[in-house]
Amino acid sequence: MKFVLSGVKPTGIPTLGNYLGALKNFVRLQNEMKEFEFLIFVADLHAITTPQDPQELKEHTRSVAALYLASGLDLDNLTLFIQSEVHEHVELGYVMQSLAYMGELERMTQYKDKMQKQVQGVTSALFTYPALMAADILLYDASYVPVGDDQIQHLELTRNLATRFNNRYHDFFTVPEPLTVKVGSRIMDLQSPTNKMDKSAENPKGCISLLDSIPTIKKKIKAAVTDNEAKVYFDSEKKPGISNLMTIYSSITGDSLQAITALYEGKGYGDFKNDLAEIVAKEIEQVQTKYFEWIHSPMLDEILDEGKARASMFARSKLQKLYSLMGIGR
Ligand code: TYM
Repeated sequence: MKFVLSGVKPTGIPTLGNYLGALKNFVRLQNEMKEFEFLIFVADLHAITTPQDPQELKEHTRSVAALYLASGLDLDNLTLFIQSEVHEHVELGYVMQSLAYMGELERMTQYKDKMQKQVQGVTSALFTYPALMAADILLYDASYVPVGDDQIQHLELTRNLATRFNNRYHDFFTVPEPLTVKVGSRIMDLQSPTNKMDKSAENPKGCISLLDSIPTIKKKIKAAVTDNEAKVYFDSEKKPGISNLMTIYSSITGDSLQAITALYEGKGYGDFKNDLAEIVAKEIEQVQTKYFEWIHSPMLDEILDEGKARASMFARSKLQKLYSLMGIGR
């Protein structure tokens, strides 16, 4: 069995960035890579690297699972599960910590960024988080890992840890390849377009949540920061705002950036933003309609129970082999 694997942290409701960089891509890849089984999970243990309200964490975990399904994942080759329900992730995570060097973890940009923003109360789990992420992937010998741009460095570390283990023992782990979308792997904040769109953004106007109301979504697009030139063309250095909006447009419609430029030649930002507001709203409205069906459906728990059983079967077998190889236990 060959696997494509990925996860999303339930630190809140996923954003338009998560959707275009990850969820929508999973659906596209599922159609293209029929010979692979898709292992998709809710990374709830990753969420607690920062403090979480228990009730909200539980709700968001379910919501992320329902949003995966609402995005259109095909149940036929899908194993959908909650990370914490497959205990082997944590066990292998610890083994990964025993392989990862402090220096490697210290170089992780996400960790460094968070350290800068949050001087007090940075947890050791935030530091060791990439080791757990490596375990998530290596536990299943995933061949491909579709992620947004911000996770590439974690994937590189995963590849290094797998190779280190393979050299120390014998070839044991598959060294995974990242898969990113060509357009949309880094959607930026609508209010400060040099920053990544992120659930934890201080200004909620810059971030579209997949469960924002449709009028709110349109309003956020129309209020997105642009520039004074009033010409629609792509230049991420000089025109980060408009370039980000073009990226969103392109990743939803499939139109190339050149085609979008041609379409809006001679028109101002108003027309462009009005059209984009409708395009984004229509896309998210479809997801929301299905989301509200899934979140109230008893089938959601059935799918997650089956996912847990199937993922556990692979995980248990891999971990047993690993312990035996390393001389752990009797
Ligand atoms: P998370 O929950 O931060 O993000 C989930 C996915 O969304 C992508 N993403 C974006 N893509 C485009 N534009 C953005 N602004 C944007 N923001 C986020 C992320 O790159 C990611 O693909 N550590 C992971 C979760 C995880 C995981 C794994 C992923 C845990 N274990 C194993 C893959 C394999 C995370 O925090 O993603």
